[in-house]
Amino acid sequence: MAKAKVPFFGVAREYAACGADMLPLVEAALASGGLLQGAEVASFEQELAAYCGRAHAVAVGSCTDALFFSLVAAGVGQGDEVLVPDFSFVASASCILRAGATPVFCDVDPWGNMELDKAAKLATPRTKAMIYVHLYGRMGQPAGIEAFARERGIALIEDAAQAIGASHGGRRAGSMGLAGCISFDPTKPLSCLGSGGAVTTDDPALAEDIRSLRYHGRDAARKFSRLGYNSQMPSASAALLRYKLRQDPAWGDRRREIAARYCDALEPLGLAVPREEPGTRHIYHKFVIKTQRRDELAAHLKAQGIEVMVHYADALHAHPLFAPALPQGGPQSPNAQALAATALSLPMHPWLDEADIQAVLQAVGGFFGK
Ligand SMILES: Cc1ncc(COP(=O)(O)O)c(C=O)c1O
Repeated sequence: MAKAKVPFFGVAREYAACGADMLPLVEAALASGGLLQGAEVASFEQELAAYCGRAHAVAVGSCTDALFFSLVAAGVGQGDEVLVPDFSFVASASCILRAGATPVFCDVDPWGNMELDKAAKLATPRTKAMIYVHLYGRMGQPAGIEAFARERGIALIEDAAQAIGASHGGRRAGSMGLAGCISFDPTKPLSCLGSGGAVTTDDPALAEDIRSLRYHGRDAARKFSRLGYNSQMPSASAALLRYKLRQDPAWGDRRREIAARYCDALEPLGLAVPREEPGTRHIYHKFVIKTQRRDELAAHLKAQGIEVMVHYADALHAHPLFAPALPQGGPQSPNAQALAATALSLPMHPWLDEADIQAVLQAVGGFFGK
């Protein structure tokens, strides 16, 4: 295989470009002595809440924990059902099992967002919550979902792991429903020093509950009053995230600019491309194309030094983890299955330069004989 010419992930280049700005911030957080949940974390929580248009943000150790804590705080447990799209990263649904509830897998639209009419058909009196995923950094049709959840008394939890910086009709990812869950792991649009996440909410009681869950179940009176966990954010991660949040909108707009270049060049080849819809900001956590010749194209691009990945190779319900939770005959999810067979993620990060973009477009064009 050729040496990677165009890297899939941008973190090394990000460090090369911004390390000189970032290192003193990390150093100051280390020198402060408050390594976990220090002043930087409190400041980051305030800035993140303001950015998402929420009253509160609570930093935790990962988005996996953010999702689980949100379900627990919403009172989801044994005997409850939780609607979840059938196409996402495993953490969107494993949190439901962790809470002791049953995932109900719902088919998605052609770009992977949960579809309201299908979700509505799957809702039962046992549906206590729904997890709405902004897959690949695209928000889909959140307005209808919010109204549906409100009318049915269902706790809406946003899996915005991939979507910080995305918006729909002026509303940012992280601003929907009861709780928004965001990831800052190194593959995400804003990354910290390792795993990291946050819950955003307008509900003060929910924020208090998450603060308690992230630190061993301690309450406001500093008594350990419930079963809790240890899921904190290092201060150095928060310092880095404060810096990265200030790079908005530049870093996100660079992703969108590259995405527009990809779309303009690849659509004429007959490929399905993720155009940004009017009134929305797609943050392109992943830039995904769809082709029946996906595996052949992936091999061709890798041979040319273009790093590509598949997100995801299976519908969620197909993973053995969920087998015991499936209804007889399993869910029917033709759109999720079609995505699993055709989706291919191309390199996407703000640090791709003109030569990288040209290399990607020429390699894809070469495959299709153009
Ligand atoms: C859609 C989705 N949900 C949840 C997660 C979990 O995030 P974390 O790695 O911060 O636990 C991820 C991470 O890839 C994700 O893509």
